[in-house]
Amino acid sequence: MFRAMSYSQGFLSLIDQRALPHKELWIKSRCLEDVAKAIEDMVVRGAPAIGCAAAFGIACQVHADAASTPDLKLCSYQETWNQYLTRMAATRPTAVNLFYAIKHMRDLWSSQSMDRPLNQFALDVESKALALEADDLKTCQAIGSHGLEFWKGQKKARVLTHCNTGSLATAGYGTALGVIRSLHKAGRLEMVLVDETRPYLQGARLTAFELEQDGIPYTLISDNMAAYAMQKSMVDFVVVGADRIAANGDTANKIGTYNLAVLCQYHNIPFAVAAPKATIDVHCPDGARIPVEQRPSKELLEVQGVAIAPTGSQVWNPSFDVTPAHLISAIITEETVCRGPYAF
Ligand code: MRU
Repeated sequence: MFRAMSYSQGFLSLIDQRALPHKELWIKSRCLEDVAKAIEDMVVRGAPAIGCAAAFGIACQVHADAASTPDLKLCSYQETWNQYLTRMAATRPTAVNLFYAIKHMRDLWSSQSMDRPLNQFALDVESKALALEADDLKTCQAIGSHGLEFWKGQKKARVLTHCNTGSLATAGYGTALGVIRSLHKAGRLEMVLVDETRPYLQGARLTAFELEQDGIPYTLISDNMAAYAMQKSMVDFVVVGADRIAANGDTANKIGTYNLAVLCQYHNIPFAVAAPKATIDVHCPDGARIPVEQRPSKELLEVQGVAIAPTGSQVWNPSFDVTPAHLISAIITEETVCRGPYAF
């Protein structure tokens, strides 16, 4: 299984997800700004992976600062530290896992005595980032196991999924793709229908790549084929990931997710969301309050650098949509399979 990142002693290596599946390029970062840019530019993407990368980016920067000023007391570092967290928080607005990781770092800071030297704090920041990553991996494996409870059907499942929610989008294993992996391991999966996921093609480029690597049977479709596949009884259930789940269960995920949920209701097909509890934003009452990121128009005007629309076309490119809770049959977390009405 491919991992999206690896951290060691102040260096973060990220696989460049923009180049996959045809090129395996690793980008090394040793400062916060490099990692922040990598998140903005989609070198690393997927809600849990963004959270882990952000934590490592902070660890890289504190490591570098501690190398140049090891004895600096934390009381003289407060302003710099706040600027780092603010910069990281500005990278991508929707995935709440980013803010979860930053909150952990903020809490770590609050637990420090201000006369501690920076080099000691740097070790704690590094341990915290590694712990968040390890925790996400365990969480994804647990989500996968709960996915087996969700699909109780007698026959092997034909599952449709959207975007990439696999090991590249998390610390490893995946959320919705973790459910799919667990079904496959248990011999209960027949076929995965993979939505190509316009405009950024995370399905075609990344999910197909992960499934190919793991020998999991899949069929690639374009997003506009989902309705016909459902009408032809080719789909037993849909499972997707989430970038933010509001307290009432409304769920922001990759643009195109809402289409699938509406189609599922029409065709009477279960529609599941698989996500860590950390993706649930209990402070956000409903989907209307979830900030939805707008991405550059280039992502729609070009495919892999080749222009496909008239230059200068007006473009609307929301990266996510919000699926109302009443369309979601279940939310699968590391703890349980929740059914609506949701109240987190
Ligand atoms: O824009 P992306 O590629 O970061 O969007 C990713 C998704 O929407 C995923 O479905 C979500 O982050 C869950 S990843 C486990």
